[in-house]
Amino acid sequence: QRTAVERGRALHKRAAELYFQCLRDDGRARTAREYLSRRGVSDSVAVDFALGYAPPGWEFLATRLQQEGYLPEELERFGLIVPRQGGEGHYDRFRNRIIFPIFDAQGRPVAFGGRVLDDEVPKYLNSPETPLYKKGQHLYGLNKAGPAIREKGVAVLVEGYMDVIASHQHGIRQAVASLGTAMTPEQGRLLLRYAPQVLICYDSDRAGVEAAVKAGEILTGLGARIHVLTLPEGKDPDEYLQRHGADSFWLAAEQAPPFFTFCFSRIAAGQDLSTAAGKVTVVRELASLLLMIPSAVEQEANIQWLARELRISEAAVMEEIRGHARNAR
Ligand code: CTP
Ligand code: MN
Ligand code: MN
Ligand code: MN
Ligand code: MN
Repeated sequence: QRTAVERGRALHKRAAELYFQCLRDDGRARTAREYLSRRGVSDSVAVDFALGYAPPGWEFLATRLQQEGYLPEELERFGLIVPRQGGEGHYDRFRNRIIFPIFDAQGRPVAFGGRVLDDEVPKYLNSPETPLYKKGQHLYGLNKAGPAIREKGVAVLVEGYMDVIASHQHGIRQAVASLGTAMTPEQGRLLLRYAPQVLICYDSDRAGVEAAVKAGEILTGLGARIHVLTLPEGKDPDEYLQRHGADSFWLAAEQAPPFFTFCFSRIAAGQDLSTAAGKVTVVRELASLLLMIPSAVEQEANIQWLARELRISEAAVMEEIRGHARNAR
């Protein structure tokens, strides 16, 4: 007798296989295959990430999995089918979408993401929270990237499915995605089990930069060493790699500032640093970040750097930060 969660795992494994087969063999998947090849996804990386396709019909998965003995209630509990509004029966959640299975760190599929083939909205649809999948607990690509992150000692953190896939295809095997914008502390802890260093490479649009700051703060609190790579205007890693390749990516990465410096530059950009008022604003805005750094040595190194940058004493910086800590309490 298998438990509900064990059945859920088997269910996801079968669903992933059916979507995968559909992308490979089904005549209806032709436009999906063309879509992926137009986006430069190689066949081998598509196989590596077990990409699939959900055909347009309403009951592709529902029918097959029920034939295999799964019950509608469990298909629904694991987010694969949805009950019809005010009617009887169910329909598939994912229809006419490229399927990205989301694997746990052990390589078991626990959820799915599905992308439309055009510019309809929503662009991506994801599994809801289920007994197998809690949002913000998993990192997309970690099952593939884990060994490379350990070997290189650094993870590359990107936003989305296609960023991970393009990265791996271009030999950047240490790439994982937080999926969506905000990274959670749980994802941060998971990532730091593999390496103490992270290169954040989110999209260079406004949402991406804001999300990079949030992720950086979480990782700072966890004691990570962080750099932030901002790709030229409007690009995400997928677009950048397809256009410029990995060598160019790594050249840009060498210039990526440490997270603290990145935050300093953002704040300093709006201030006149020749004035005391400008210096005070910068120190106050960086105070909470400095206070998040768990290592006293790291914290002091950043304070020294900041004092030198602003041409003020470390004691003055310390005093402002202590004031900030008191006010925060
Ligand atoms: N995302 C989502 N639902 C959306 C939009 C985005 O879940 N409606 C998640 C996806 O995991 C997506 C990531 O947020 O990969 C980043 O979003 P975005 O940058 O908008 O998409 P891209 O990954 O660049 O998608 P693509 O290149 O396929 O257009
Ligand atoms: Mn984005
Ligand atoms: Mn993007
Ligand atoms: Mn993209
Ligand atoms: Mn290429």
